[in-house]
This record gives sequence, structure tokens and C-alpha cells, in this order.
Amino acid sequence: MSGHQYIMALDQGTTSCRAILFDHEGAVIHVAQQEFQQIFPQSGWVEHDAEEIWRVQLQVMKQVAAQVPLESIAAIGITNQRETTVVWDRLTGKPLHNAIVWQCRRTSELCRTLKEQGLESTIREKTGLVLDPYFSGTKLMWLLDTFPHIREKAERGEALFGTIDSWLIWNLTEGRVHATDASNASRTLLLNIHTLQWDEDILQAMNIPASMLPEVRPSSGIYGHTSLLGSDVQVPIAGVAGDQQAALFGQGCFQEGMAKNTYGTGCFILKNTGEKPVLSQNGLLTTVAWQIGDRVNYALEGSVFIAGAVIQWLRDGLGLIEDAKESEELACSVEDTEGVYFVPAFAGLGTPYWEPNARGMITGLTRASGKAHLVRAALEAIAYQSRDVLEVMQQEAGMRLHDLRVDGGAVRNGFLMQFQSDLLGVSVVRPKVTETTALGAAFLAGLAVGFWSSLEELEQLKGLDRTFQPQQDEAYRESKYAGWRKTLQYQL
Ligand code: G3P
Repeated sequence: MSGHQYIMALDQGTTSCRAILFDHEGAVIHVAQQEFQQIFPQSGWVEHDAEEIWRVQLQVMKQVAAQVPLESIAAIGITNQRETTVVWDRLTGKPLHNAIVWQCRRTSELCRTLKEQGLESTIREKTGLVLDPYFSGTKLMWLLDTFPHIREKAERGEALFGTIDSWLIWNLTEGRVHATDASNASRTLLLNIHTLQWDEDILQAMNIPASMLPEVRPSSGIYGHTSLLGSDVQVPIAGVAGDQQAALFGQGCFQEGMAKNTYGTGCFILKNTGEKPVLSQNGLLTTVAWQIGDRVNYALEGSVFIAGAVIQWLRDGLGLIEDAKESEELACSVEDTEGVYFVPAFAGLGTPYWEPNARGMITGLTRASGKAHLVRAALEAIAYQSRDVLEVMQQEAGMRLHDLRVDGGAVRNGFLMQFQSDLLGVSVVRPKVTETTALGAAFLAGLAVGFWSSLEELEQLKGLDRTFQPQQDEAYRESKYAGWRKTLQYQL
């Protein structure tokens, strides 16, 4: 390991690309981050320009790499917004359409048709997912069905499909490697999570040519090398995982029963279920957490589509705040929302409702309601949606939650963390490194190249920042939550 001091994690999220250098202690040494364009072609549709994503990602990588000698970077780990679908030309490397983002609802009707054809239970059993526009499968189907030239190319073996991890690997290796990891593959609706193979029956039912699909590989292992940081240095790409699974790994939730909530664009609660996939009866997803060697770890997941994105909307959509930090000040400037509830169902509702046609709503406004009440209600909504998921998780597992490990950008908001603790009646535990998504990818890459030697070693690297304890009683918690549940009924 001589001379190797750092692992570089690439965190390609829904709104920004980041590159982060971690040292051997798991501390953040350098970060570069840049947002990119969100494209909304029509109501409920969301796209990204895949070429822009690659350009921005490369730029932030180069910025970070310039801070240290290139030889000191032992490996690259990739983590990414999941499900977002890219189709590109094998020969030119150019995307054949904008990437269709996980939040995009354009395939709601298609999902309904597939349900009517009776595919729902097969899909659930084989893939662990529900038939919702969230996942890649129907997005890919839509591209093939809508654009004859894409289908023709696909049938000639000239069009490739990938989630963002595959797209980055392809570009980093200059077209040499078309691969994905098992955690990302498990979000496509096309993977049999029991065998880790693309499922031929589902591909046939959706009319998707298998030749478009990437090779499925373990989450920790060498995918290829990149020389794009400097022509004389070959840096291995050695870890790949979807961002929520990477966060579970970065939080050190290696044992069965451990859970975390990441407050990013959305909120994603994952619970490690060990080496067995557990199928949910109440709208939780079963997903591959990671594959290391031949060992596959599974997780149960609750996905909330809009969390931190509601703060972004208060800033960019309404112009109510200048930056995310101001939302905390405003929320704390009033005692309560005074009956205002905000349902940020901008992209439908995910777990446990799976209602793609739900939309955003604000209720309980009076002449006394002001900007602070609205902002507070938006932050509270993030916590309510998390409780919706945790209620189902506890009910299914027959267990009581003792504490909640949290991470992601919005956990810097102290009001939100305190309210989450008050609403759940449990401690909310915030780690020192809240970049656990990137850290998880770094861990997976570091394990593959011997930078770190074992999960036990990684466990030693965790550090706590702060624990929020409940400060409200049960009556408060239940009456606030009852108001939320009542408001939600308008959308269900
Ligand atoms: O499933 C979508 C998820 O991966 C998006 O994560 O961090 O971009 O909100 P994030």
C-alpha cells in the first residue's frame, strides 16, 4: 500500500456531482461539488443531460485530484442516484436520449398496463420491487417503444443501457467496460435478486433485448482502470454501489437488523436483513444492499421521493429562502405550524403508499399563517414521511426502534433532527462524517485494493457527532402525526 494515502469517492447525486478524497481514517480531505441542470419537459417528467453529468463529474474529479499527487490515490469508488436510465450508442458513446430520472412519472400508464397484464406479483417475487415508474425497467421500455431508431440500434447490439454507475464506468474506462454492481442492478425491475441474473421472463414481457444490459458484478472489486486523471497513472475503479446502499455501508450497518435514514433529495430508510431477501407485505422494497465476493447482503427499504428537495423548492421555486440554512432559522422562529401541513408529493408518493398520481398540497392555511409556518411545515413533512416508513418497518419486523442513524445533507438542520426525534420518540444519532454515501463507496473500493483489510477495521472508523433525544411527550407526537395522516387522505 506504499504511497497510497487516499480513496476517491465519486458521488453522482440527483442534483450535483461530487468528488471526495478520504484518508485512511475515513476523514474527508478534499471535496469538490457542482450542481447540474434539472430538465422538466412536462408536468411530472424529469430528465438529466447524461453528457453534462459526465462532464461535471470529470471536472470535480480533476479538481480534487489536483490537490494531491496522483500516485497517492489508491482507488476510485462510485456511488450514484439510482434507477435513472441512460441509453447510449456503443459506437459513438453518445446518449440516444436525455437520461430519464428516477423521479420521472412518465411511465405511470405503462405500469398500470403491466399490472393489468398480471405482472405485479411475479415482479415483486423476482425483483423485490413494486410496479412503479420509479424504477428503470419501464423507463427503458418507454424509450424503446417510443423511438424506433433506439429499438433498431438495440436489436443490432448498438444501444447500451445503464444506470448512472454504468454510464460513469463506461466513460472512465473510455468504452472498455459496460458493467454495473448488484445493488444498482437490483433497482432496475429487471434483475432476479435471488440469482443476481437479468430475468429472461421479465425482459421478454417488457420486450427489452438482453444485449443492451450491463454485466452485473460484485460491489467491491476491480471494474477497470482510468487514465483520465493523468495519462501516466492508471487508477483502479474498485467499488460501486447505489447511493442508498452505499450509505448503509458507510454508516457501518454491516449486521442484520441495523438501519439508517439518509436525508438527501429524498429520504431513504434501509434496514440490513442479512443474507436473506425478506419480502414485504406492506409496500417496503427488497433490495440488494451489496455483494462482496460471493456473499450478498439484502435490505428492506422505504423510499420517500421528496425530502431535501422540498427545501430546494422553497429556495428556487418559491424564493422564500436564500439558502437551506435559513430554513432552520425560520422554522425555529415560530412555536408551531399552527395547523399548517405540507404534503410535498411533487413526484407522487412512494413507500408505503405507491401512489404515482399524488401531487403536492398545503392545508390548514389561515390569515395568521406566514412564511415561517410554511417553511416549518415543509421541514416537518420530511420527518412525517420518515415516520410513515418506520411505522411499516417496525410493524413488519415486529420490533421497536431504539434509535435512528441518520446522514445526508439535510441532517445539518438541527430543527429537523430534533423534530424527527420528537416525532418518533427515539434518539436520532448523527455521525461526524455525514458524507456516509461517499464514505460507503470509498470503503467498498478500499476493501477491494487492500487499503482497508476488513469490516472490523472499518467499524473502528465511525465517529459520533450528536445524539438528539426526544423532548416532547407522546400526546404531542401522536396529535401532530394524526394531523399528517388526516391530511394525506386527500391524496390517497
Ligand atoms: O433512488 C433514488 C436515490 O438513489 C436518489 O438519491 O441522494 O440523489 O437523493 P439522492
